[in-house]
Amino acid sequence: MLEKFERYPLTFGPTPVEKLNRLSEHLGGGVEIYAKREDCNSGLAFGGNKIRKLEYIVPDAIAANADTLVTIGGVQSNHTRQVAAVAAKLGMKCRLVQESWVPFEDAVYDRVGNILMSRVMGAEIEMVDEGFDIGIRESWKRTLEDVKAKGGKPYAIPAGASVHKYGGLGYVGFAEEVRAQEAEMGFKFDYIIVCSVTGSTHAGMLVGFTKDGRARNIIGIDASGTPEQTKAQVLDIAQKTADLIKLGQNITADDVVLNEDYAYPRYGVPSNETNEAIRLCARMEGMMTDPVYEGKSMQGLIDLTRKGFFPSGSKILYAHLGGVPAINGYSYIYRNG
Ligand SMILES: Cc1ncc(COP(=O)(O)O)c(C=O)c1O
Repeated sequence: MLEKFERYPLTFGPTPVEKLNRLSEHLGGGVEIYAKREDCNSGLAFGGNKIRKLEYIVPDAIAANADTLVTIGGVQSNHTRQVAAVAAKLGMKCRLVQESWVPFEDAVYDRVGNILMSRVMGAEIEMVDEGFDIGIRESWKRTLEDVKAKGGKPYAIPAGASVHKYGGLGYVGFAEEVRAQEAEMGFKFDYIIVCSVTGSTHAGMLVGFTKDGRARNIIGIDASGTPEQTKAQVLDIAQKTADLIKLGQNITADDVVLNEDYAYPRYGVPSNETNEAIRLCARMEGMMTDPVYEGKSMQGLIDLTRKGFFPSGSKILYAHLGGVPAINGYSYIYRNG
């Protein structure tokens, strides 16, 4: 589906699929849980889902002769850290707008984890006192103008690399990769669990799995706390990506399955249940998840399994999209484990 699109390799290759035996057993043994380790996909500053998306965006930045990647996210954004790493790898400059998307309380929140790495990798960081919004932001547009005014050639990457013409392609590739791995393993997954916020991860998977009729088997777990906006953005990106790759199949609002039950109390703030899910997964599997994204989708996976949402015998693929560095910004919560 992606042959005609240029890809700039930034990942190690196909990501491993790992069976989570102890977690599956602990949850009753009625379903088999696997994780696709997107968190281990690259050597670029701990990797993650944005690296897979950026593989299809970077050729456009190079073709545009850009010298500065400009993007935006929250203070502990994984996305901005991954863009900083890619800029370093390409020998480009990087300007990051970090907005106050999370009402953080940890004393070191703006010093550790993702933002620490972005600084070390040489990105120029601007802290902006604006709240959470996955849409196109004025602060980001201002920085793009500033780069131009100073004689640079900016390349615009929106939040989460999502609302970009090539933003959905990486996770179309994920679906193709899963199909090839399924063929090797000799079975197919019944459900795919994916955390969704800015939308192009879920959207790309939707397009990729529409091909074999599994769009509605992708269970998006909202972590934005603004699910209507995320759902609309997933649908829009999926439809545009389907047109772009000439999928030849329609994607409708009903194809976007987005569970809203685990994003509370708000974006970037973990609930007690999210923290319990993080601990359980860590203690059962040695697999770390973060309090902003994957801890919430892990909570969803655990809770839906316990509630019997998945028929007995189901094989479930948890897409681990990365994001663990942010946990350093929440050190007080985990001071006793
Ligand atoms: C670790 C992690 N998981 C999930 C997501 C959600 O992906 P998307 O923004 O493509 O919906 C993000 C980024 O927003 C992330 O960094």
